[in-house]
Amino acid sequence: MLDGKITNAPHIHRARALLDSRALMRNPIQVFEKYRKQLGKTFTFHFAGVKRAIVSTDPDFIQHVLHKNQANYRKSHIQVKRMREFNGYGLHNSHGERWLSMRRHLAKGFLTNRLKKMMPIQLEVMDEAMEGFAQRAGEGPVDIYQEMVKVSLALIGKTLFGRRISDEELQVIADAVSDIQAFILRQIVQPYLIPWYRLSGKTAYYQKIRGEGESLIEEHINIRRRDGGGGSDMLGHMLETLYEDTGRPMEDSQLLIETLQLLIAGNESSSIGMAWTFYLLARHPECIARIRSEIESVVGEGPLDFAALRRLEYTAQVLNEALRLYPPFWMIDRIAQEEDEAAGIHIPAGIMVIPYIYGTHRNPDFWPDAESFDPDRFESTAARERHPYAHIPFGGGPRICIGSDMAMMQSVLVLVSYIRDYDFEPATERPSNICPMMLLRPDGPIPLRFRRVAGAS
Ligand code: HEM
Repeated sequence: MLDGKITNAPHIHRARALLDSRALMRNPIQVFEKYRKQLGKTFTFHFAGVKRAIVSTDPDFIQHVLHKNQANYRKSHIQVKRMREFNGYGLHNSHGERWLSMRRHLAKGFLTNRLKKMMPIQLEVMDEAMEGFAQRAGEGPVDIYQEMVKVSLALIGKTLFGRRISDEELQVIADAVSDIQAFILRQIVQPYLIPWYRLSGKTAYYQKIRGEGESLIEEHINIRRRDGGGGSDMLGHMLETLYEDTGRPMEDSQLLIETLQLLIAGNESSSIGMAWTFYLLARHPECIARIRSEIESVVGEGPLDFAALRRLEYTAQVLNEALRLYPPFWMIDRIAQEEDEAAGIHIPAGIMVIPYIYGTHRNPDFWPDAESFDPDRFESTAARERHPYAHIPFGGGPRICIGSDMAMMQSVLVLVSYIRDYDFEPATERPSNICPMMLLRPDGPIPLRFRRVAGAS
């Protein structure tokens, strides 16, 4: 067929998709939103005019792919392969038995009792962060995006490694991670340039950066081994716990890969989520006031412990609403291993299947007045009545984000720490736009003006 129709879902003509391919590289969400508004909740097109893809915002379709028949859908080969080249073969990019064994092993480190034990480390990090912030806030507008990158790195870094790795070392690792991520993305969207990257020495250059980051982590693991290991941080868990199936601890080489992958997975997603939350709150002072009054009634002058954080229900609603409008993972990609059918759509074997999270979260069938910021949508009764796959910032099914509870706990803690002491507002009229890379970054700084509230500690 001339238009290259792929399945029984509405289809973008192949020539149209080809014409859109440059725009797709620049801002895929803009193109996807245009298609979604034109064609509805599920549609097909040829990625770059060539690769067949089904994009869906239909919660039934997504639930089928991520949960009900998840064994039929694997992460794309190119993502797995490119990631393996730089970040090793870990939880994020493995499948089958290997993935299951690692997932069970690592999941124990994210259980509620472990998160509770991590609380003192997190509180210490936030105390330090707030001390430094007082001066920065007094000097003028603060770029909350960069602020959140720093805070999230300190939180994730110290949750993973405990207190003994320095901020300078964390920065080296974070820079390496961020440069390598960007390089991996370039290879995924422009695979024809891979031979050139190899010949020109670019691949070797990024391998060198990766080596530098890795040796820092390796050194830290060695120190922990020598000093006896253990502790309430994630590295302590990985050193202490034995695999259920083999009864053996994790090998050092695997420890290195998993630590690196957790740092990568946790850091950027959390900082982006927090930055957008502050961005939205700055434009909704009434929500800041409600959070502050919730903190006063739930925590008061008492200690900010794990149980108190869990009782801050409105604060969690605000985070869920921000993750709805600006989901850091704006899409998930899978490849169908065998022919299948989901929500009435035929899925040919080998096709790319994209649960398009950003579009799902703005689908007016599930979200009345979808573009507006309204944390009351997550009030418990309304949330219970909604389709479980209408709000999926952490994905779904067996591969749902392993760090979701930790991310929520840290994000509530960050909001409480700032909002207890500060009011804030936009320092510019210019709205921030989305810049969808692998994750949904803002297109530049998000400058906010902070003012200490009367009677702040
Ligand atoms: C707001 C913050 C976060 C968001 C929005 C987020 C989102 C996600 C999503 C959507 C997935 C599923 C990807 C897929 O199915 O292909 C995922 C997987 C994952 N996330 Fe997160 N994440 C966040 C924070 C964290 C944190 C703090 C950690 C750990 C420290 C973490 C570790 C992981 C890992 C290891 C996986 C892979 C799990 C597997 O394949 O079994 N994430 N995350």
